[in-house]
Amino acid sequence: MAINYRPFPKDFMWGASTSAYQVEGAAEEDGKALSQQDVINRRPGVADASLASDHYHRFKEDVALMKELGMTSYRFSISWSRVFPQGNGEPNPKGVQFYRDLIDELLANGITPIPTLYHYDMPLALVEKYDGWISRESVKDFAHYARFIINEFKDKVKYWTTINEQSIIVQFWTQKCLIPEKYLDDPQIRYQINHHLNLAHATACKLVHELVPGGMVGAAINTAPIYALTSKPEDALGMLNAVDFRTLFYLDVYFKGEYSKASMIYLEEHNMAPVIEEGDLDLFKEGYSDFLAFNYYSSDCARSAGDATERTEQGVNWTGKKGEIESYETEPDFFQIVRNPACDTTDWDWAIDPVGLEFILRDIYARYGKPLMITENGMGAYDTLTDDKKVHDSYRIDYLRAHIQAIQRAMHYGVEVLAYNPWSFMDLLSTSNGYKKRYGFVYVDRDEEGGSCERIKKDSYYWYQKVIATNGADLD
Ligand code: BG6
Repeated sequence: MAINYRPFPKDFMWGASTSAYQVEGAAEEDGKALSQQDVINRRPGVADASLASDHYHRFKEDVALMKELGMTSYRFSISWSRVFPQGNGEPNPKGVQFYRDLIDELLANGITPIPTLYHYDMPLALVEKYDGWISRESVKDFAHYARFIINEFKDKVKYWTTINEQSIIVQFWTQKCLIPEKYLDDPQIRYQINHHLNLAHATACKLVHELVPGGMVGAAINTAPIYALTSKPEDALGMLNAVDFRTLFYLDVYFKGEYSKASMIYLEEHNMAPVIEEGDLDLFKEGYSDFLAFNYYSSDCARSAGDATERTEQGVNWTGKKGEIESYETEPDFFQIVRNPACDTTDWDWAIDPVGLEFILRDIYARYGKPLMITENGMGAYDTLTDDKKVHDSYRIDYLRAHIQAIQRAMHYGVEVLAYNPWSFMDLLSTSNGYKKRYGFVYVDRDEEGGSCERIKKDSYYWYQKVIATNGADLD
């Protein structure tokens, strides 16, 4: 029997997403100082954050395109080093004004702003001063920044997200943070960074509850289902360990105010546990989350770590040729991640798994019972601009359609989902592949060197416009 899935609720927010350093450009303009991402992304032959998609100068044009698309929410991030160039001290008036103007423009166009306070871009000044998140001092400076921003926009912003992809910062610590060489052989450092991020997250949650009337706050984690590779009981256990280590280790802090036991015991036994001070766990509990925002792209499989004795890291596909990822994460005695053989992948080896979105929505909601919001989901692909200035991205439409259907199925079975903000509103600087890999509804005319940055609507833009206009009823 074909199931008649319930329609999306009337107040469902249809939006899109970006992050500051990936779109704004103007990396050293109007008082902004560099962030660690401005530096990490300087690689020969690959675009960097200095121009990005020139959103800093074109935000009005961009908001007009959002309005025309029909977006009712926009998830973006605030650049800490645009607001506090040195990471602390006095705010930069022009930096604050940019976010005032952006938020006012969104509100004037009926678009709900959903800011993220931190998207990988620690002010460089604080990396130079005390090694960024490695030092506990970072929590104090983040609190100063968060208090200022939340207070500034408390009457205009209801939904706040704190840290983008904490688990990815831990997993890919050298790509998401500038790590001084002396720490590179010490895997404990990444869990110390994580502990400080947890303290920063909890502090921001407390501040939203204190300052914003009716405000709601949550992290923006990256999460994905991890299936057992086979039906062997040992692989099922490997899967359980991987889920604990990659997902529950973060979500238990957000929702229960404690670290998941299995992962913490594993870290202690392998000398990787963070130093936790008195009162830290109380702060976790006080800084509870109202919802979980999450970014979903793909799924993984896990199996028993067998007799592996070495830790291995997850590889990255830097080329855009399928099959380039050579290594997957192994935590000896705990689990081993493997490619999901049941799913096709993008050119960058990310498994395409819309059913996994339904799975993870159902799973997280069953565990924590809190509303969910999708802050990223999308397909990175090579796009071609035709001579008559069109982008026929039917592959992206197929990807998004299947994921929207998955959300609808999860909601049909009772999951509360507040918003869908796919990645990305416009083409932007990829975290690993410059402008070769594109995600946007709006094409940005530039390459690795630069370009006009003219905005061009892709086929997916017109398709999503219809999806929003029909509140998800017409996905054809
Ligand atoms: C998410 C990040 O992990 O994935 C974004 O929050 C990022 O910043 C997106 O751009 C896609 O990753 P990539 O490497 O394709 O840019």
